[in-house]
Amino acid sequence: MAKMAHGLADDLASTILLATDRPVLVAPAMNPKMWTAAPTTRNVATLKADGIHFIGPMAGEMAEKNEAGFGRMAEPLDIVAAAEALFADKDQAKPLAGKTAIVTSGPTHEPIDPVRYIANRSSGRQGHAIAAALAKLGAKVTLVSGPVTIPDPAGVTTVHVERAEEMLEAVTSGLPADIAVMVAAVADWRVASSSGQKIKKQPGEAPAPLLLTENPDILKTVGHHEQRPTLVIGFAAETQNVEENGRAKLARKGADMIVANDVSPETGIMGGSRNSVKIISADGIEAWPDLDKDEVAARLAALIAARLAGA
Ligand code: CTP
Repeated sequence: MAKMAHGLADDLASTILLATDRPVLVAPAMNPKMWTAAPTTRNVATLKADGIHFIGPMAGEMAEKNEAGFGRMAEPLDIVAAAEALFADKDQAKPLAGKTAIVTSGPTHEPIDPVRYIANRSSGRQGHAIAAALAKLGAKVTLVSGPVTIPDPAGVTTVHVERAEEMLEAVTSGLPADIAVMVAAVADWRVASSSGQKIKKQPGEAPAPLLLTENPDILKTVGHHEQRPTLVIGFAAETQNVEENGRAKLARKGADMIVANDVSPETGIMGGSRNSVKIISADGIEAWPDLDKDEVAARLAALIAARLAGA
């Protein structure tokens, strides 16, 4: 920052910073005494006057032992969000500004005992992409995610859960909202009484059968809720009769729209990066071409904005 403020360009980074006419975002991280030192204060004022953008530093613990205060680097996801906001097309319309959305994503894990669980192949990619796409159009988004290995999307509030019952609780406590998009592959069943201790195998004996009980249906609960969002959208993961099953789900779950896809193993959709969907609503069925999951998300967000605008 001191070099930038004085136009010193004696290495690659400082040379690029002096030679660029693109926006520059600084995410300072330093010892709290350095941050408040008079030269730093002067340099920051100079840089701000030059139009340099800042994110952080934040208050908190330092990397140095027993040091805390103002100087901690902003969280990486907040830096990503600040960078995205900086490079965002300023003219890009924000048709969902002022709207709130709840999105579920990923699988749920239903415990059998402290070390084992029932799960499915959902990666969370489609749900996370939809949360990000809605945020990009200006919506205030809460993403309720089951256990996934992909990062939280920038610009979205992510709540992490494991079980279907926890997911339902997180979703209903997020109501009221204008939009609900339930993308999670919620386990339909959980173990009726999961064991508090690891279940041991008994040599020579058949394992005890797993007794299952039905999980709450989150989409159906939201679709019939007294604080039902204006637009309730569900997914239908099918391996056969995609349209027929999708239409049945639209009615049964009280949804305005069902995004139906064929998740047969040969499609590679579950866990993959592409998706081929059919949009089912009271207006009929529209088949979208095979698209990247980010493109499906962007199209769906645009469709949601159009629906809310009454188009
Ligand atoms: N869903 C949900 N809660 C559940 C089960 C499903 O919110 N307990 C939602 C999913 O997020 C999705 C939609 O319901 O938006 C359809 O999920 P899907 O697994 O395709 O259907 P199911 O209702 O589980 O029906 P089936 O297993 O018979 O196909």
